[in-house]
Amino acid sequence: MTRPRESPWDEPLFELIDSVSSKLLGSADLRGNSLASAVHRVSEAYLRQRGSPLELRADREALCARLKFFLPRDLPKIGAPLAELAAVSAFPRRSALRVLDLGAGLGATSLGLAEFAFTRAGVTRVEVDAVDCDPQALAIAAELGSGWARLRGHDLRLRTRCASLDAAALSHARPPYDLIVLGFVLNELGDQQSDAVSHHCDWLRRCSELLSADGALIALEPALRAQSRTLQEVRSRLADSPGPPYVFAPCLHLGACPLLARERDWCHQQLALSFPARLASIARDAGLRSASPTFSYLTLHRAPRSLRELDGGARLQRIVSGALPSKGKLEFLICGEGSEQRIRRLDRHASDENQPLSDARRGDVLRVTGSRTDASVLQITPQSRVERLPAAGVDLGAAPPSAAGYDTPLQQPTETPPQHGSGPDTR
Ligand SMILES: C[S@@+](CC[C@H](N)C(=O)[O-])C[C@H]1O[C@@H](n2cnc3c(N)ncnc32)[C@H](O)[C@@H]1O
Repeated sequence: MTRPRESPWDEPLFELIDSVSSKLLGSADLRGNSLASAVHRVSEAYLRQRGSPLELRADREALCARLKFFLPRDLPKIGAPLAELAAVSAFPRRSALRVLDLGAGLGATSLGLAEFAFTRAGVTRVEVDAVDCDPQALAIAAELGSGWARLRGHDLRLRTRCASLDAAALSHARPPYDLIVLGFVLNELGDQQSDAVSHHCDWLRRCSELLSADGALIALEPALRAQSRTLQEVRSRLADSPGPPYVFAPCLHLGACPLLARERDWCHQQLALSFPARLASIARDAGLRSASPTFSYLTLHRAPRSLRELDGGARLQRIVSGALPSKGKLEFLICGEGSEQRIRRLDRHASDENQPLSDARRGDVLRVTGSRTDASVLQITPQSRVERLPAAGVDLGAAPPSAAGYDTPLQQPTETPPQHGSGPDTR
């Protein structure tokens, strides 16, 4: 059982970050405007607007931006796919969890994983093999890992290895791993590939061979259109081939991805979290949105497991857009087993039974009974019952998102305007 989460950010975490920055970054330990402009520069590189992630390597001011802003901002994201595994008892049952973090960077995903894992009854130790090609990033990860273990009083052992993510890196791994995580690195690997989808499928298949029989692999990616759509194509290809690995989430079905049909759509998640004042202020100064972190993800399982197990006998639908603006009705894009692509409730049909639709948010999984299907629309009647399943990590203990709660730069020259509420979000 998972104990309820409190806010993923607390003052001791920020104190740890500050002490690591001061100890390891020296003159590049930035504050105020210089920190905000480094954050802005890193964001531009992530967005490929100016520079690229590759050019950030060995850039100590960029490391400081990653440590003081991107790491705490991104740390809670892995909790959402992990909570989904836990919701159907597919979280590996091990007291000492073995984790491989590929492209670990400063360790944001590993720390987020540890924060989640130690809320699980029975988990006493987390051992992470953290691999990255950037030795300075790994030095920070190691320092943060030991500091975090002291701070939380948990047995987290983070071992770093500096290596490029290729076949040789995997041959030096120490399988089996209960969890393998790739936090925001696939897109960087894809920059070097002419066919990123084939590369990622091949790479994820190889990685998943290192999993234990009940292990899972989670790839997080930025909630950008191109990168999320690449992940959707990877998912489609893996879902069409015999496992292992098996597609576990975010999909509730193995059919065609409805958000690939139109170029303007992309599947991503949004955590209903308000940033603490310190993060919000850096975000504002750097021209980034200051709430509701976003990401896309793909969870693969070594065993034929699926998030569908939340309720095998019911109609489950995932909300894959924000509320679509329309007069006299409430609509969302949905993704589920049937042919329906929208859920619609006329305002006059709102009732206690279907009330949870009023509060639905991107990423929610709904169980719907007593609905009617008109072509591709799931029509909610006053008698329809709508339940929100407590599956997704969007429940990380949070204030509701602001209406425009994206962690997107305020100016978005590279993205199309939001279409039917399905975007846009960036890093
Ligand atoms: C955006 S950072 C993400 C770091 C961390 N996983 C997180 O969740 O915040 C991507 C990391 O992948 C690493 N990386 C990119 N390409 C790599 C490669 N070919 N081999 C090893 N590491 C790589 C970079 O050095 C960087 O630290």
